[in-house]
Amino acid sequence: PASTARLPHGHLSVGGVSLAELADRYGTPLYLLDEDEVRTRCRTYRAAFPEGEVVYAAKAFLSRAMARWVEEEGLGLDVCSAGELELAHAAGFPPERMVLHGNAKSPRDIELALRLGVGRIVVDSPSEIARIAALTGPAGRQKIMVRVVPGVAAGGHEKIRTGTEDQKFGLSLTDGSAQHAIARVLGQPQLEMTGLHCHIGSQITDIKPYLVAVRRMGGLMARIKDSHGVTFAELDLGGGHGVAYRPGEPALDPTALARRLTAELTASCGAAGLPVPRLLIEPGRAIAAPAGVALYRVLAAKRTGPKLFVAVDGGMSDNPRPALYGARYAPRLIGRPATGVPVTATVVGRHCEAGDVLANDVPLPDDLRPGDLLAVPVAGAYQVSMASAYNLVARPPVVAVHRGTARLLIRRETQEDLRRRDVGA
Ligand code: LLP
Repeated sequence: PASTARLPHGHLSVGGVSLAELADRYGTPLYLLDEDEVRTRCRTYRAAFPEGEVVYAAKAFLSRAMARWVEEEGLGLDVCSAGELELAHAAGFPPERMVLHGNAKSPRDIELALRLGVGRIVVDSPSEIARIAALTGPAGRQKIMVRVVPGVAAGGHEKIRTGTEDQKFGLSLTDGSAQHAIARVLGQPQLEMTGLHCHIGSQITDIKPYLVAVRRMGGLMARIKDSHGVTFAELDLGGGHGVAYRPGEPALDPTALARRLTAELTASCGAAGLPVPRLLIEPGRAIAAPAGVALYRVLAAKRTGPKLFVAVDGGMSDNPRPALYGARYAPRLIGRPATGVPVTATVVGRHCEAGDVLANDVPLPDDLRPGDLLAVPVAGAYQVSMASAYNLVARPPVVAVHRGTARLLIRRETQEDLRRRDVGA
């Protein structure tokens, strides 16, 4: 996780900058992103997949700086809306290194992708094939992948499992809809089918489901070769690589994953007489999450029945993950020595519902008081990108820390920003 270093008296620093100082300077809630940590993680992935392509999933966290870091580290970018596409483009990210996803691409998503020249579009339903082909000029052959549901159950929570047929993504292997879509893409001269895609879920800490997915995709590639005489140059296995949110939790190691995937793919293709396709992978969380830290200030602490509730100045509006997925975090007191007795506390937000919990049953000192600072590590993915302005609480800023300096990436939302949209008086 973000290279947090312990300073005297319970002080912590990220990227060489004291967290307490950052809280004073930028206010709270505050999201910090350690640039070195992001870059190191990109490099680890590139080293693990030297012949493959590592495509960062922008949905985990995107800003212009993030797009630039990822670009400089040689990764591609997975975008799933015209919004992500446009922001990355504005940051100078080369469109040919982008992959467009989405189960419901809008006409604008597709038009913009084609106009800017997005590298690959991943087809998720039959109806988009003709739409993409119609908008593709005869000269520009658009590269296409087809998203397949491999029938593998994996992922940290029911809402982020995407490998089985009871959810909305992808085309079925078993009822033939994947084969049908592939045939349709192959029949469109403007489209170049480069390979298959699957994304089985998120926050996966076990390699085995990926190996099963590789075998199933190998099986499909073999059937397509038999039926159409076509072999594919690429295979995109999506992302989903799990991280440790709390000390001692397992994480998926990209190097081990790469080794096992490559071995499995080589074996599967060898057995079927197929050329081994180039691997693409799309980590989002594994790049961004460990590089982020969220800072909150305590607004209130009280006992209600048996529980000690510590209420902070953010909550489900900046981090909906505990409420949505039962996600667990390990907040800790920073900025002063922990003098109190450790007790089990529940860190809650300021929003008007009981589900607004940031961390359930976590050890914290019993003398927490208003003004104290809590730091939540591993906060770099799917928090800022999923933030809302619920209860008209403005969204927090994002500050990059890098070798002892801090730089504002995304400013705090203001009440004026929020009011400006209210045009109906
Ligand atoms: N590729 C595709 C096609 C995806 O749909 C996703 C994530 C990724 C790659 C990146 O997955 P990652 O490596 O980040 O797990 N909001 C949820 C996670 C949703 C993931 C959606 N798709 C959460 O906070 O846990």
